[in-house]
Amino acid sequence: MEVRFWVFLLVAGCAVDAPSKEQLGKQLFNDRSLSTPVGQSCADCHDPTQAFRDPESDRTTSMGAVDGRFGNRNAPTAMYSAAIPPLHYDGRWVGGLFWDGRASSLEEQAAGPLMNPREMNNPDHATVVAKVRRSPYAAQFREVYGSRALDDTETAFAHITDALASYERGPDLSPFSSRYDKFMAGTGTLSAQELRGYRLFNASCASCHPAPLFTSFEYVNVGVPRYENNMFLRDNPSFIDHGLSTTVNQPTEDGKFRVPSLRNVARTAPYGHNGYFENLPFMLEFLNTRDVGSMQVATCSRAANSQARCQWPAPEIPATIDHRVGDLGMSKDDLADLAAFLEALSDE
Ligand code: HEC
Ligand code: HEC
Repeated sequence: MEVRFWVFLLVAGCAVDAPSKEQLGKQLFNDRSLSTPVGQSCADCHDPTQAFRDPESDRTTSMGAVDGRFGNRNAPTAMYSAAIPPLHYDGRWVGGLFWDGRASSLEEQAAGPLMNPREMNNPDHATVVAKVRRSPYAAQFREVYGSRALDDTETAFAHITDALASYERGPDLSPFSSRYDKFMAGTGTLSAQELRGYRLFNASCASCHPAPLFTSFEYVNVGVPRYENNMFLRDNPSFIDHGLSTTVNQPTEDGKFRVPSLRNVARTAPYGHNGYFENLPFMLEFLNTRDVGSMQVATCSRAANSQARCQWPAPEIPATIDHRVGDLGMSKDDLADLAAFLEALSDE
């Protein structure tokens, strides 16, 4: 009798289990009706099946809900963004969401794409809240945030960004399940090649991309060239991306962007804040040879010497370039080892 009573309680307990903020956030994240016009969700630019980045990477920047209107920057993965601290000054600038640190929390960040005319393009908060009121999960929303949660526009909008941020803080987006994590936990191994890459990484990369998140969250100008194929520049040919200096209004920060995490980097092509680098080997070649030129760029004639190194195109903003990268002296084999190690940072 007593056992049956406890079983009853257990089952009843599960049946009335309220949906969590995280589950609600997941539904919001995947809801294509939240854009104007409808048709674009967060997941369209941060696909959960593809390391939360934009699968239409041939475009290099993402198209928004309005056909033919493109963003100015390469969509980063939303994974591990829960670990990014708010932007703060600590002898140097650290943290902040977006490539230029302009949002200080996931909640503030989430409001950005919902309103951005180049992304989900809603005219105001009321439009978003009205869409959520009509959504299949409106009842769940009231269960989680209270029966009047969707009545007042600003309160409801704050709940929406809160739920999105809860989902982004959950284990789906920060699983720490890569082969590197298993190696560190002593439950898996890395190959000899990956271990060679790991040593090279520690020598040349870890100062800006330290474990466990493979970023220091600091701001650096690595000298990414202007990218004329960037869809945004076709409509805005005079645009120059000043990065952090626009956020903090300091010329010393011109052209600096937040060091990105390298977790899942093998799956997040193209690379760089403007998508200049279409694949990982090309990005690594740039870091290796920015200052000495490369056989992989075609900015000079090779008529006389087919092995000639050509200069990389000029950086968009030359004044603040960081010289910890640019002439790393790595061989072809070194770069292959490095790429092999970076593959081991992909979650399984
Ligand atoms: C049209 C494509 C697009 C859509 C839709 C979109 N994003 Fe993004 N997202 C981007 C781009 C591009 C950036 C980088 C923009 C920048 O740095 O200025 C970004 C940045 C982010 C970041 C910051 C990551 C970092 O490393 O700083 C997070 C988190 C994020 N998006 C979550 C979301 C959420 C949540 C939604 C839905 C409410 C969403 N995105 C909708 C393209 C998109
Ligand atoms: C001096 C600091 C610094 C060092 C050292 C450094 N990086 Fe970076 N890395 C950055 C910054 C900053 C960016 C973003 C640059 C941008 O887009 O403007 C970046 C971007 C990248 C990207 C592109 C990621 C993406 O999502 O677009 C890869 C891959 C990368 N670095 C790998 C490496 C490797 C491998 C090394 C060692 C050979 C290395 N980095 C050394 C600062 C550094």
